[in-house]
Amino acid sequence: MEPTTMVARRSVAFVILLIAVAARAVFAITEGLLPNGHFEQGPAKSEMNGTRVLGRYSIPHWEISGFLEYIESGQKQDDMLLQVPEGERAVRLGNDATIQQQLAVTRHTYYSITFSASRTCAQAEKLNVSVTPESGVLPIQTVYTSSGWDSYSWAFKARHSTVWLSIHNPGHEENPACGPLIDRVAVKTLRSPHHVKTDNMLRNGDFEDGPYIFADTPWGVLVPPITEDEHSPLPGWMIMSDTKVVKYVDAPHHAVPRGAGAVELVAGRECALVQEVRTVPRRSYKLSFAVGDAANGCEGNLAVDVSAGRAAKLNVPYESHGTGGYKRAELEFVATDNLTRVVFQSANHYTKSDATLCGPIIDDVRLVPVHARRRRM
Ligand SMILES: *[C@@H]1O[C@H](CO)[C@@H](O)[C@H](O)[C@H]1NC(C)=O
Ligand SMILES: *[C@@H]1O[C@H](CO)[C@@H](O)[C@H](O)[C@H]1NC(C)=O
Ligand SMILES: *[C@@H]1O[C@H](CO)[C@@H](O)[C@H](O)[C@H]1NC(C)=O
Repeated sequence: MEPTTMVARRSVAFVILLIAVAARAVFAITEGLLPNGHFEQGPAKSEMNGTRVLGRYSIPHWEISGFLEYIESGQKQDDMLLQVPEGERAVRLGNDATIQQQLAVTRHTYYSITFSASRTCAQAEKLNVSVTPESGVLPIQTVYTSSGWDSYSWAFKARHSTVWLSIHNPGHEENPACGPLIDRVAVKTLRSPHHVKTDNMLRNGDFEDGPYIFADTPWGVLVPPITEDEHSPLPGWMIMSDTKVVKYVDAPHHAVPRGAGAVELVAGRECALVQEVRTVPRRSYKLSFAVGDAANGCEGNLAVDVSAGRAAKLNVPYESHGTGGYKRAELEFVATDNLTRVVFQSANHYTKSDATLCGPIIDDVRLVPVHARRRRM
């Protein structure tokens, strides 16, 4: 039997077992770090061989399998010094390693998971994040911070009141110790992606709802590619790309045109922020939005490409000093279909002085019908 099949079967068995006996033992969280989500409580020395963790239950609150290492900040790998973003400790998911924890949740509610990860030796690492029956493979490939640590997000809809969250490295490297470092796993309840406001046809157009961001994380959180049939940590929005992401940035650490959050388009034309909305063919609509910079040093002549449906396109230039600011832009169009796709892309790749990728931010996106003026009698 394939080890992954065994893991899947075992987690199904555990879910059934837990529903039966252990619901009380699980701590319910609506927002914040999971119990021992930063891995500061580690295994006893007797349960380790070097850095490798031997026992399935050696890390408090977690269940592990595969080649998993417990890493302390300042530890060396070849000549690379391993750093940990928070506290002193993290885990490394080597070949076929899984960490999992059971969560008490509310059925039919949407949740997002945020965790920090850092690539180590392989060029294209991946993580399979799952809450049965949903899963998503997150590319841990491009690095968006100078520290090498990025925060990633993923969302799911709870089908049961107790679920297993698992993060699995499906990789099979020659060196079994290769694989991403993981630290700080948190969860947040999301609003339903179907929630609409009366003055805006778009859902979550102001990006007030988004994945969890740690209070001391200054670099925002990445939202990986999300296609239409999956749930999005940015409710209402899809992220279309092969391996690239958008970045959700928060007001405490960034200049945000309005409210608590905005989206930074960090991957040029390799990634698109998309929402599909119902429209009436031949009727006129107005799409308006803010384009700016997050005050994170992304300087230069930035530009955003916007489109609505097949015909309406607009390029919005924005001169950034990297210190914050924005302007508003509008696109009026006549719908040609029942469904209109609103698409935002960064017109180009942009980088900061530390060579990390950055781009323009988008916020406060509104779509309203334009009513034809009544003819005067
Ligand atoms: C990811 O993990 C889930 C749960 O174990 C599994 O069902 C799914 O097939 C995996 N996806 C990939 C692409 O390996
Ligand atoms: C510890 O790892 C080394 C190197 O892989 C191996 O030779 C040894 O048998 C392991 N010891 C235990 C107790 O598993
Ligand atoms: C729009 O929807 C109507 C009714 O559902 C359907 O008859 C029509 O063919 C659709 N038009 C397009 C362009 O998809």
